[in-house]
Amino acid sequence: MAGTLTFTMIKPEAVAAGNIGEILAMMNQAGFRIVALKKTQLTEEQAGEFYEVHKERPFYGELVSYMSQGPIVAAILEKDNAVADFRALIGATDPAEAEEGTIRKRFAKSKAENAVHGSDSDENAQIEASFFFSRFERF
Ligand code: RTP
Ligand code: MG
Repeated sequence: MAGTLTFTMIKPEAVAAGNIGEILAMMNQAGFRIVALKKTQLTEEQAGEFYEVHKERPFYGELVSYMSQGPIVAAILEKDNAVADFRALIGATDPAEAEEGTIRKRFAKSKAENAVHGSDSDENAQIEASFFFSRFERF
């Protein structure tokens, strides 16, 4: 059975552009409940660890410096079928391929600077949520 939690980040360029409120509103309107929420900034080391799965990819260095360039907003979200439904809400990695009505279609600037992160599996949702939040920060 699909899990009820996913993990998201509002990425640095979307935070810098003042889009936190509108992006969180789209998540709420799509039926996601906020379980945990914080604004913080990753060091290069932390960004590298978070995206370690991509360390052999050509864009890894660029991704690490982008994700540590400014504050992000991290959140744990709850909804039935959370991981798949949230990936549908954010849209394709490249905004040129993202569907109308998705967060990336509206807010992403490019395939690299694409406004939001969404977990890709229930297992990674748990790992990523625990990277940012203790059990005392979840309600
Ligand atoms: P995310 O993990 O951030 O939710 O994004 P995703 O699953 O849609 O895409 P993924 O393949 O996991 O890539 C992670 C992030 O790396 C950056 N990226 N840049 N320049 C490029 O070709 C490229 N490809 C990926 C994006 O920020 C992407 O979200
Ligand atoms: Mg991914």
